[in-house]
Amino acid sequence: MDATILVMSMASEATANLIRRDATAVWHPFTQQSLWVADEPIVVDRADGMYFWDTDGNRYLDGVSSLWVNVHGHNHPTINQAIIDQLGRLDHTTFLGLTHEPGIELAEKLLATAPKGLTRVFYAGDGASAVEAAIKMAYQAQAQSGQNRPYFAHFAEGYHGDTLGAVSVGGIDLFHETYRPILLETRMVSSPGVLEPGQRRLNRAAAVLTELGELLERQGKQICAIVLEPLVQAAGGMLTHDVSFVKGVRALCDEYGVLMICDEVATGVGRTGRMWAVDHAEVTPDLMTCGKGLTAGYLPMSAVMTTEPVYEAFLGAGSTGRTFFHGHSYTANPLCAAAAIANLDLMETDQTVANAAAIGEQLSKELTPLVTQDRVKEIRQIGTMTGIEVESVGDRTGFAICQAARAKGVWIRPLADVVILMPPLAMTPTDVSTLTSAVIESIEEVLA
Ligand SMILES: Cc1ncc(COP(=O)(O)O)c(C=O)c1O
Repeated sequence: MDATILVMSMASEATANLIRRDATAVWHPFTQQSLWVADEPIVVDRADGMYFWDTDGNRYLDGVSSLWVNVHGHNHPTINQAIIDQLGRLDHTTFLGLTHEPGIELAEKLLATAPKGLTRVFYAGDGASAVEAAIKMAYQAQAQSGQNRPYFAHFAEGYHGDTLGAVSVGGIDLFHETYRPILLETRMVSSPGVLEPGQRRLNRAAAVLTELGELLERQGKQICAIVLEPLVQAAGGMLTHDVSFVKGVRALCDEYGVLMICDEVATGVGRTGRMWAVDHAEVTPDLMTCGKGLTAGYLPMSAVMTTEPVYEAFLGAGSTGRTFFHGHSYTANPLCAAAAIANLDLMETDQTVANAAAIGEQLSKELTPLVTQDRVKEIRQIGTMTGIEVESVGDRTGFAICQAARAKGVWIRPLADVVILMPPLAMTPTDVSTLTSAVIESIEEVLA
């Protein structure tokens, strides 16, 4: 039967009509459009707390925080009110040549949470645009300190967003290989999270640090910065590595005068059970990006935090060329900043990071039955960030598991055959158990 007809037969006429209009006018991100209608898209109508509803009234638990962004749940009265209040006062003005209280206050609050030594905030829009700003900033800081260092080092299986600079420092072939001919020339090192047979994470960290050390020994004077996702290569499949790796990269950066860029777009704002993943390693990067959860999953806003020495490399008299010529129309948008301030305040009053750590412990306990499942290859987890890698049992196994969970009222999205769980940080133990039992049942059903 024609896929369109099949979906139409399951959905109400109103929903079928929306899907028809969508399929006619819209192109979705990371989506094979030829499968889109056959995969029976959910048309979301509204969301509240940990759940969202489709246009036919079916309810789904948001098991991946609406793609790793949501913090306190949807439709949160405090964040709603903060945006409404801001809307009545100042919608938007440029941050080029002007400033405003929400932009100032957010920078202060963000720095108060950041590792010691990060003293400046530069705002951007999405995660990728923060990475883009960070790599340009690092290059220019080095150049203006008299260092000609044209290359970035980065890691296989890394992911930093979809703009060309961010793709240049990525390492996921499926996403990035197509664009290699139009990317920056970089130096890619093995993934710290992909283990050789029999290898343990600690040994892997040491081996990749040796490889990185050898690269720096050969070409250290030409490397501007090392870009990494600290502790978890998220889009690579929740590939986790040992904290010694993050510490080791810091030490090598110091030895060779290379800047350390930690991309905390996915790991930051509490996801790993600490405010920042680098906190686990007690490391301060030279530049650190954040995004996703910054506005609690409400609005697009990201930032680069950096140190006084990096900032000072841009200071000069009058109209010298030392200025950072970089920015966006919506830099520091006050509505986004208001949402982010409310988010950080709530995180403090509700002890959200501690809750995230507790969710992590609950997930690890409740997923234990999967450890002995023959076809579950590995469960990787740090805090709320969880990847369950399964054996392929046909076309799109990960997707089939997520579809099975969907039939149980739980929404999750895989990365190939890695089933991803990343609940909002404020999820209650009851909802976490709903999530884990649906996921376990779905995995058992599909792998049986
Ligand atoms: C580590 C990391 N950096 C950057 C990005 C890109 O963020 P955005 O999708 O907001 O551009 C992502 C997105 O998943 C990410 O995981």
